[in-house]
Amino acid sequence: MKYEEIINEIQSRVADGRLKPGEKLPSIRSLSEEFSCSINTIIKAYNELEKAHKIYSVPKSGYFLVGSQNLASNPPQEFIDFSSAGPDKWQMPYRDYQHCINQAIELYKEEMFQYAEPLGLPSLRYQLSRQLQELQVFTPPERICVVSGSQQALDILVALPFPNGKEEICVEQPTHFSFIDSICSRGLQAIGIEMTRDGIDLAYLEKVFKERLIKFFYTVSRFQNPTGYSYTNKEKKKIVELAQRYDVFIIEDDYMGDLDTRKKADPMFAYDPSGRVIYTKSFSKVLLPGLRLGAAVLPDALLGLFAKAKFAADVHTPVLTQGALEIYLQSGMYNAHIEGLRKVYKRKGKILKQAFRNYLPNEVVFTGADSGFYSTIQLPSHMKAAHLVHGLKKKNVLVQDATGMYLPLYKKENVIRLSVSQVEDKKIEDGIRKIGEEIGLLVSSGKS
Ligand SMILES: Cc1ncc(COP(=O)(O)O)c(C=O)c1O
Repeated sequence: MKYEEIINEIQSRVADGRLKPGEKLPSIRSLSEEFSCSINTIIKAYNELEKAHKIYSVPKSGYFLVGSQNLASNPPQEFIDFSSAGPDKWQMPYRDYQHCINQAIELYKEEMFQYAEPLGLPSLRYQLSRQLQELQVFTPPERICVVSGSQQALDILVALPFPNGKEEICVEQPTHFSFIDSICSRGLQAIGIEMTRDGIDLAYLEKVFKERLIKFFYTVSRFQNPTGYSYTNKEKKKIVELAQRYDVFIIEDDYMGDLDTRKKADPMFAYDPSGRVIYTKSFSKVLLPGLRLGAAVLPDALLGLFAKAKFAADVHTPVLTQGALEIYLQSGMYNAHIEGLRKVYKRKGKILKQAFRNYLPNEVVFTGADSGFYSTIQLPSHMKAAHLVHGLKKKNVLVQDATGMYLPLYKKENVIRLSVSQVEDKKIEDGIRKIGEEIGLLVSSGKS
């Protein structure tokens, strides 16, 4: 028997569950007896598997399958999961990224494992400054900070004193719950601006900018989380004008700007690149969330303070993942990947929108659905999202209660958030039909 056949045999035992992650492999001697082959053949097979990082050896103990037992326990497949917010798991380019990590080590060697600058690898910052041009964000590398997920930049900015000397924070309602956590965990309060399916009330925003001492307005300008709303260029321009007029900074969270298929859509940053608009970018939704990689474009006046706070938080973002991102961007893999993703989410968004129209009862309002990444369903105001979440779970449909996406003062309990990112195209319609039916049941039972 050849060593390749032993490898195939091990792989088939893994595939059908006879060998589980973390489990010890048969000893070399027992396998050689089982297959009547030489010990050297088994050693060669195990060496190859070890080189491919499929197994590892523990001296005096034997060989083990890489991975932990927990990894095997995936959630049951029969759920239609609109609640998970990770990127489409069938689109995660982890193999390509693995190559980039290997290449980064080849290229930079021990540098990849040394302490580095708090604001990121200079070569990655240069690459980011080129990449951001695709999004109409023109900035020198010196103003770009690499962060451990864009959430880190947001969290630091919440606490940093700003050049306008003001202290109040203004935020869309509902919004990204981690940002709410950043505010609440520091005992801060913020002023909410209601986000509806038609955007925000700009006259009210102006009133708030004028009458309050607003340090910054935090906005998710495209594919807002949770509503899915994307501002038009006209709205973005107007918001920037208001910020300039009333000396307010804007934190523009463009976490999924890459997925915008509107060719002429600009970020707010493009309307004032001077530093009034602080731009944050995430690689979580369009690449791999576990990498914890993001970037922020800051005004000169904040760079020094931000670098200190970043150093205090985690010294710097891991260099290995930064080096790999640099290669991923430079090689064009990122752009090719984004191209594919845009099509995937556009298709999902279309299916979702049609399903909303077909199956949701008239009593509810839905928002978003352009990319399908996030959208909400607003129930009649006397109803509780928690009941719907509970009822749907029994029918194997998972959705998210959006209550935690509101500041305490602006709380609404009748909204659910959906994301199609983890739902296969063919299951979207069925899932929305079930949601529509469950809402119908709740409405008719008068349950509030
Ligand atoms: C609005 C918004 N911004 C940013 C992020 C991503 O943050 P990070 O880059 O820290 O993973 C998310 C993730 O859910 C989000 O919803």
